[in-house]
Amino acid sequence: MGQRRWLILAVIVCLFASSCGRELQLKHNDKHTVYNHTLVKTLVEYASAVYMSDLTELFSWTCSRCDGLTKGFEVIELIVDVQHCLQGYVGVAKDLKAIIVALRGTQEHSLQNWIEDLYWKQLDLNYPGMPDAMVHHGFFSAYHNTTIRPGILTAIKEAKEIYGDLDIMVTGHSMGGAMAAFCGLDLSVNHEAQNVQVVTFGQPRVGNAAFASYYSQLVPNTIRVTNEHDIVPHLPPYYSYFPQKTYHHFPREVWLYEIGWGSLVYRVEKVCDNSGEDPTCSRSVTGNSISDHLVYYGVELKCETWRSCGIMTDPRVEDYRKTDIQGNFILSRNPAAPVLRLNTH
Ligand SMILES: *[C@@H]1O[C@H](CO)[C@@H](O)[C@H](O)[C@H]1NC(C)=O
Ligand SMILES: *[C@@H]1O[C@H](CO)[C@@H](O)[C@H](O)[C@H]1NC(C)=O
Repeated sequence: MGQRRWLILAVIVCLFASSCGRELQLKHNDKHTVYNHTLVKTLVEYASAVYMSDLTELFSWTCSRCDGLTKGFEVIELIVDVQHCLQGYVGVAKDLKAIIVALRGTQEHSLQNWIEDLYWKQLDLNYPGMPDAMVHHGFFSAYHNTTIRPGILTAIKEAKEIYGDLDIMVTGHSMGGAMAAFCGLDLSVNHEAQNVQVVTFGQPRVGNAAFASYYSQLVPNTIRVTNEHDIVPHLPPYYSYFPQKTYHHFPREVWLYEIGWGSLVYRVEKVCDNSGEDPTCSRSVTGNSISDHLVYYGVELKCETWRSCGIMTDPRVEDYRKTDIQGNFILSRNPAAPVLRLNTH
C-alpha cells in the first residue's frame, strides 16, 4: 500500500512541481533581513537543546547541549504539553540582550510517518483577521490551542518586567519551526512586540501565498534555514501551477549546501531571494533526505533516543512545577531570583 501511494505521489509531484506557471507576485517589505551567521549558529544550538529529555538538566541549563554558544543562558520557564507531546522554553540570553523562545513539535510517532503525512496536509484554516490567508490547522493549533502559548506569553511578560524591552528571538526545528513562525506572528500581531526575530530550521510550509505575504510584512526579520536535500522544507508540496491554492513558504530562506568534491568541499550558505520560493535555493534540488533534516551547521536536531514523549524530571524541580488537570506542566522560576543551582549527577 505504502509503495503505491508513493508512486502516485511521485507522478503528481513530477506533473506539478515543474517550474512552469506564473509565480504570484507578493508585496514585500523593504526592510532587509540580515543573515548573521554567528547569531543563527547560536540559535541552532537553542533549537537543539529543546529536544533534551532530562528536564531537570534543561531547566537548570546544565544539559550536554546547554553549552557552547548558549553558555550562561537562564531559563525562566519550561513548558511541557504532555497532552500533545510538545515542549518549549523561554529564557534570557544576556550576551544577545534577548529573550529566547525555543519550541519542539510532536515526537509521538516515527519521523518517517510524520513526514509521509506532511504530503496530505490541507490548507484547512483561515488565519484569523487575514482575508484569504490559509494555514494548516494542526500546526496552527499546536501553538495556539495548547498550553504552549499561554506559557510563553507569561514568561515573556515576566522577563520584560525584570529586564526591560529586550529583543525576542523565536526558534525551532521541523514542526517546532512551524510553531515558532506562528509564535513570532502572534507576538507581532497580538502583543505589539517590537524586534521579534524568527529563525527556523528545516521547517515545513505552513500556509498559502496570501499567508506568506502577510507574514513577511509582519515579521520581516525572519530567516528560514534549509539544508541540502532535507525533505521537510519541500512539504506540504508547492505547485507552481496553482500558486494561490497551494502552500507557499515565506521568506527569507538561507540554503546550506556543499560544492566541490573529494578534499575540496566548500560549505555555502546561500541567502535566497525574497519570494519565499526561490527556485535557485533548496527548490533547485530534490527533497529526498531525512538525514539532512537532522543536522544543521553540524548540530543535531533530534532527541538523543527516539522516545514516545518520555518525560524525565526529578524531585529537585518539584518546587518549581505547576501541573494542570490534563497532566501538562510548567517548570517556572522567578527571573529576579538568583540562577538555579542544582546538584547534577
Ligand atoms: C551577529 O550576531 C552576533 C551575536 O551573536 C553579534 O555579536 C554581531 O555583532 C552580529 N553581527 C552583525 C554584523 O550584526
Ligand atoms: C482546541 O483543542 C480542544 C481540545 O484539545 C478541541 O476540542 C478544540 O476543538 C480545539 N479548538 C480549535 C479551534 O482547534
